[in-house]
Amino acid sequence: MTSIIQFADIHFGVEDQEAMGCVKACIEKLEPDIIVICGDITQNGSDAEFKSAHDWIKTLNGPKLITPGNHDTPMYGLIERFTRPFAKYKKWIEPLSVPHFTNSDVTILPYNSSRGWLFGFDWSLGAVNLKDMAKLTDEVKRLSQGGVEMIMAHHPLIYPEMSPLQKLTKNGPETLKYLSHRNVDVVLTGHVHVPFAIERQPNETEVISIGAGTLSTRRRDKPASFNHISVDQKMIKVSAIDFTDGKFLTTETFSKRVDALNSRRPLKPSNERDVGYDKLS
Ligand SMILES: [Fe+2]
Repeated sequence: MTSIIQFADIHFGVEDQEAMGCVKACIEKLEPDIIVICGDITQNGSDAEFKSAHDWIKTLNGPKLITPGNHDTPMYGLIERFTRPFAKYKKWIEPLSVPHFTNSDVTILPYNSSRGWLFGFDWSLGAVNLKDMAKLTDEVKRLSQGGVEMIMAHHPLIYPEMSPLQKLTKNGPETLKYLSHRNVDVVLTGHVHVPFAIERQPNETEVISIGAGTLSTRRRDKPASFNHISVDQKMIKVSAIDFTDGKFLTTETFSKRVDALNSRRPLKPSNERDVGYDKLS
């Protein structure tokens, strides 16, 4: 069995200090094989926040797989935001991340869905470059040892109905269709600050989307939380671990047999026009 801890949106600078004071002891009991951190590691993208994040992540045992969020670009440095949006992330956090994780149960690769700026007024939105996603998926296939295949990013590709935040990730729906066509099984994300696990998206792509909550004080009517995911040759199980009344409590939120995954069933005929594969060739 492979034990995965999924963190997102810790937002160092406005982290929930009580929850953060207890989380390390909690995750050590779960004996993670890999810890994934799905972005928004800091609140304002400052050196001081990144240093705090760096020092804390370094105390966690075992490999970490990390991708930045929109808050990991400089909030107050417009020139740096345009010219070197991820310079501080690369200095403080990137060296702590492994490039990928793979064993016979699971393969996970990271994708950066955050941008220093985007056309339009809302730079917090995510975006996917479809050609980059095609290359990343090729890499998933090259590294996979036959286990469950996962991609992690900060932004959900489409927002679940229960999310208090409803936005559009650029090329998100197209990416979900593409990942479904390539038989990638799971997308791990953050950004909405509430945990969720959904199997079937409104456009019937059958990619499982698993979002982690937040360990910050920026909560949306849910307690501070993170996810624990266990994967073996038979089952995927997802639990949200909520910080309530001074302790972490586990609730299993989703499970699925591996042999029932879309990728284990016979390939469907592709519908290339629908997916827009002309953009990827
Ligand atoms: Fe966030």
